Amino acid sequence: MGRPKLLVLGTGGTIAGVAGDAMRHDYRPGQIGIEDWLADAGKFALDVDFAGEQIANIGSEDIGPTVWAKLHARLESAVEDPAYDGAIVTHGTDTAEETAFLLDLTLPLAKPVVLVGAMRPADAVGSDGMRNFVNAARVASDPEAAGRGVLLVMGDRVLAARDARKVRTRGTDDAFRGFPRGAVGIVTPASLEWFGKPWREEAAARFVFPGAFPHVPILYAAGGIDAAQADALLASDARGIVVAGVGEGNMPDPVRRLLAARARDGLIVVRASRVDEGLVDREPEDDANRFVAARALNPQKARTLLMVLLANGVTDPARIQGVFDNP
Ligand code: SIN
Repeated sequence: MGRPKLLVLGTGGTIAGVAGDAMRHDYRPGQIGIEDWLADAGKFALDVDFAGEQIANIGSEDIGPTVWAKLHARLESAVEDPAYDGAIVTHGTDTAEETAFLLDLTLPLAKPVVLVGAMRPADAVGSDGMRNFVNAARVASDPEAAGRGVLLVMGDRVLAARDARKVRTRGTDDAFRGFPRGAVGIVTPASLEWFGKPWREEAAARFVFPGAFPHVPILYAAGGIDAAQADALLASDARGIVVAGVGEGNMPDPVRRLLAARARDGLIVVRASRVDEGLVDREPEDDANRFVAARALNPQKARTLLMVLLANGVTDPARIQGVFDNP
C-alpha cells in the first residue's frame, strides 16, 4: 500500500488563529489558510500526503447550515473517491461537537473522517494546534478508524462524535471529554491505540442530510423561569424544542404544562439536562406528555439529532425516542 492521501478541509477556528504576540490572550480565529497550514505541517515529513481545500475561515460560532452543507457535500464525494483514504476537517472548538455529530449522522463512513481543533492560536506559547493536527493525520490514515463514525481528536485523545463535548473554555489537556464513553483511543504523533473494536457495521449514511434545517430552539431552564419564556421561543415556526432542564431534565410545572399542551398539537419536546454529565432517562409522565428523553445527549447534540430526524420526516415521539436511545 502507498502513502495514505488525506483530504484536509479548513473551516477556521483557533487552530487557524493568530494573536500576533505569543503572550497575548486575545487573538483572531480563522486567519491561516489551509494551504499555509499544510505547508507548515510539511516540515514534519509525515508519512502521508495531504490535499487541502478551504471551506470557510471563520470562528465556529458562525458555522451553521451553509458551512455544514458544504462540508457534507465535499466529504460525501471524498468518501466515494478512490484518490482519498480519509479526511480531516480543521474546525473551531466551540461548536466542533455539533458539526462532528451532524456529519456522523449523515455521512457514509467507509473511510475515516476526523475533526480537529486547537485551544490556543498557532503563534501562542504552548500552541496545541499542530500537535492535534499531526495526531489527527495519524488517526485519519488508520483504516480501523472508519468503523467508529466521525471522530474528534483533541489533546492526544480520540473521541467519538456522539460522546465528544467541550467542557472547558481554556487549557489544552482536558478541554474535551467523552460522555457517556470516555476516549475511544489515545494518540500521539508516534502512536495510536484504540480502546475496543470498531462499532459501526454499516458504512451507509444513517440519515439524509437536511435540505433545510427545521427551527428547533433550546430553552435553558433555571429556577423561576415561566411559561411565557417558553412560549416566546415557540412564537415562530418551531417544530421541536429541546429543554436544557435542571437536574435530570426537569422544568417548572407551568413550563411543563405548556409544553405538554403543545406536544399534543405535534411539537416535539426533548428533555435534556443543563448538567454537564447529565443522563436523562424517561420518566412515567413522559408517555402522557408525549415527551422524549435525551438520554446521554447534551442539549446542543439533542437539537442536532432532532433537526435531522424532523428533516427526515421522523415525527412520532416513540420513534424519535428509539433513536435517542441509541444515537
Ligand atoms: C472557535 O470555535 O472558532 C473559537 C474557539 C476555538 O477554536 O477554540
